[in-house]
Amino acid sequence: MEFRHLGRSGLMVSEISYGNWITHGSQVEEDAAKECVRAALDEGITTFDTADVYAGTKAEEVLGRALKGIRRESLEIFTKVYWPTGPGPNDRGLSRKHITESIHGSLRRLQTDYVDLYQAHRFDHETPLEETLKTFDDLVRQGKVLYVGVSEWSADQIARALRIADEMGFDRLVSNQPQYSMLWRVIEAEVVPLSEKEGLGQIVWSPIAQGVLTGKYLPGQPPPAGSRATDPTGGGFISRVLANDVLTRVQDLKPIAADLGLTMAQLAVAWVLQNPNVSSAIIGASKPEQVRDNVKAAGVKLDAEVLKKIDDVLGPVVERDPAKTVSPEKRP
Ligand SMILES: NC(=O)c1ccc[n+]([C@@H]2O[C@H](COP(=O)([O-])OP(=O)(O)OC[C@H]3O[C@@H](n4cnc5c(N)ncnc54)[C@H](OP(=O)(O)O)[C@@H]3O)[C@@H](O)[C@H]2O)c1
Repeated sequence: MEFRHLGRSGLMVSEISYGNWITHGSQVEEDAAKECVRAALDEGITTFDTADVYAGTKAEEVLGRALKGIRRESLEIFTKVYWPTGPGPNDRGLSRKHITESIHGSLRRLQTDYVDLYQAHRFDHETPLEETLKTFDDLVRQGKVLYVGVSEWSADQIARALRIADEMGFDRLVSNQPQYSMLWRVIEAEVVPLSEKEGLGQIVWSPIAQGVLTGKYLPGQPPPAGSRATDPTGGGFISRVLANDVLTRVQDLKPIAADLGLTMAQLAVAWVLQNPNVSSAIIGASKPEQVRDNVKAAGVKLDAEVLKKIDDVLGPVVERDPAKTVSPEKRP
């Protein structure tokens, strides 16, 4: 495993991290979840990403149990707050009340005294930014949270937060967690340049587009049995990237991966890691062998010729529009 700084902070993270959205507490049984975490640890992954909302808070519990007994100093545990975790109007968003209640729930479920990184899972248009940032700062001072970051915030939202933090002396954001893959490059135009200037690192999600970039979804064919596309929850999320023109072009990446001696998943993870503003690529897995496969992307270098071939194959199906980074206008 190779390690990178989280943005300009002193914190080191494994350049491939493990996340448990869709899987833990939902798609996969607890034994399989624990085997995936074990495989991640065996392969040198030290950074684990979850969220209060995953599997209605059950994902944090599963991760807490799976990491029990591991030396805490050898782990970086990341979680998030924003999406609803209960029925009430205060069980969501980035208010002082919800953030404070949510972190306490997360710490209890994860069985830890602190999380290494606490992330605002989306921008909350219904809470003053000062209120959110002051609450994050308080949690840092209380030692419950070591670093703060955001997820899927636009460049403008990040810039506003940094300005307030500097004016008020609050702890600064060190990271953003956006979707990023060969197919989804919307951060490149605005978020990455701002982040480079301001010292934020990207912790990128769905680097293999939820499994699509493995090439296992064939155009015009039903999805393979047991894949995310067949899962009641996962199926809804992955359907957005299962368009036939995307799947057809992805098949044409196979010779590029083969020439490099890489699997398709390794090529996809290696691709996001070529961006120096990426601190870590968060991989998901329903089986331990997927972790063992994908983690071999660590340290792989892709030259300019390979990157150009990938661009030529994918052509118009690559999404680059920075306006696609959006948070709900009203809290969900
Ligand atoms: N901040 C946010 O808003 C946000 C949103 C989404 C995700 N995330 C984070 O990012 C993490 C990763 O997201 P993701 O799970 O979508 O990432 P991903 O790595 O793009 O997709 C993972 C899925 O692809 C399939 N897969 C992986 N490796 C494979 C292989 N070698 N061969 C065949 N299939 C393979 C598996 O699904 P099947 O086996 O079921 O097909 C696996 O669960 C999440 O756990 C979460 O921590 C954050």
